[in-house]
Amino acid sequence: MFFRKSIVAATGLFLCIFLIVHLSANAILLLPETTARELYNSYSTALRENLFITLIAYLLYISIILHVVYAAIITFRNTKSKGEKYKVNHNNKNSTWMSQNMGFLGVFILLFIVVHLANFWAKIKLGIGEDVGVDVNGNVDVYEVTSFLFHNMYFMLFYSVLMIPLGFHLYHGLKSAFMTLGFYHKKGLRLLAKISLAYAIIMSVGFGIIPLFVYFK
Ligand code: HEM
Repeated sequence: MFFRKSIVAATGLFLCIFLIVHLSANAILLLPETTARELYNSYSTALRENLFITLIAYLLYISIILHVVYAAIITFRNTKSKGEKYKVNHNNKNSTWMSQNMGFLGVFILLFIVVHLANFWAKIKLGIGEDVGVDVNGNVDVYEVTSFLFHNMYFMLFYSVLMIPLGFHLYHGLKSAFMTLGFYHKKGLRLLAKISLAYAIIMSVGFGIIPLFVYFK
């Protein structure tokens, strides 16, 4: 059990770091259109052409798969045995609700990631679907793909609303990961809980406002 929880915790922390970098990159979309297009496309091209980043991307895909598979096994076993639950902070009702619904929240996020990868990754990296054009600098126009998608109200809402379950999942997930990896000191845990809350709010609000902003730009 501990091995499985450690895999979920370690891969979860790695995914949390990815999200910080990913949000910083996507914040470019908040800039005025001409600047945003040029920066977003050249940044995206630089990442795709970098061998080290490509290797990190493979590590990311493996982490997502391990995180989902081991979290599903833990949730399934817990539901089946109704025995020991995922490490929970019983201090308040909220965190109990979240801990019991981590699997449920995770399904929403998995749905988001599958749709998201189909919208961007499959188009840009695998060349599936309509051709993606290039900008004036000859870079793949990832900005246009994003702008076109977020001008569709349904996708805009999908990307914004699903950031709410993402926020809850990140808050509880980060706290649990710290505990699983050995942070038991009461005072330290209180601080880590605050850090987890701040992180979850920044991520869900940050990612959530971008589609809205692009829609109304
Ligand atoms: C405003 C919201 C978001 C936008 C505009 C956005 C945009 C993008 C784009 C353009 C790519 C393709 C990059 C490329 O190949 O050049 C991408 C990849 C990806 N995104 Fe997002 N993203 C958003 C939110 C998220 C969130 C919330 C998650 C996770 C919960 C996520 C997970 C991923 C993953 C795993 C990849 C594949 C990474 C890679 O292959 O390098 N994204 N995203």
